[in-house]
Amino acid sequence: MNLKLSIILTLVLGIFACTKQNQNTETADMYHPSELSQMMRDMVLWSKETKNLLSKGEVIDDVPQNFYDLANQKATRDEHLEAAFQGMVPSYTNALKGIDRKDSQQYYYDASIRACKNCHTVYCEGPLSVINQL
Ligand code: HEC
Repeated sequence: MNLKLSIILTLVLGIFACTKQNQNTETADMYHPSELSQMMRDMVLWSKETKNLLSKGEVIDDVPQNFYDLANQKATRDEHLEAAFQGMVPSYTNALKGIDRKDSQQYYYDASIRACKNCHTVYCEGPLSVINQL
């Protein structure tokens, strides 16, 4: 692999990586995402679509109900068992409830993205570049 390509690849993988200590674990994680990683990926896709729909003035009525189960998803490094993680889940799920109730959906969408950012400044800063586009 030439140098340019491997630099690009490192940057791309870096977007999703949470820790950079162990290359092997990281590679394994890419192919066998934890329950939590898988849900995070679904959350990224759903949030992107939701942002787009809200910008067109549409009403959101498809909040994936499995996202409410965020606290119980097994994480790669057992982050889901930590008090800090559990403490930050409600700010996300409460924002989802606001969208579900069809209050001000833009307001609660923005709150949901703030919840992503809060947790990710503590847990894993890699995805912040993705989150900042939501
Ligand atoms: C309560 C904490 C918390 C919240 C809220 C949260 N995350 Fe995460 N996120 C994590 C943790 C911890 C991981 C690492 C998961 C693992 O490696 O098993 C992660 C992983 C990710 C990943 C990497 C997934 C992968 O491919 O491995 C992305 C992308 C991500 N989150 C985006 C988001 C977005 C977007 C939101 C909001 C819609 C969000 N996160 C909300 C804690 C959180």
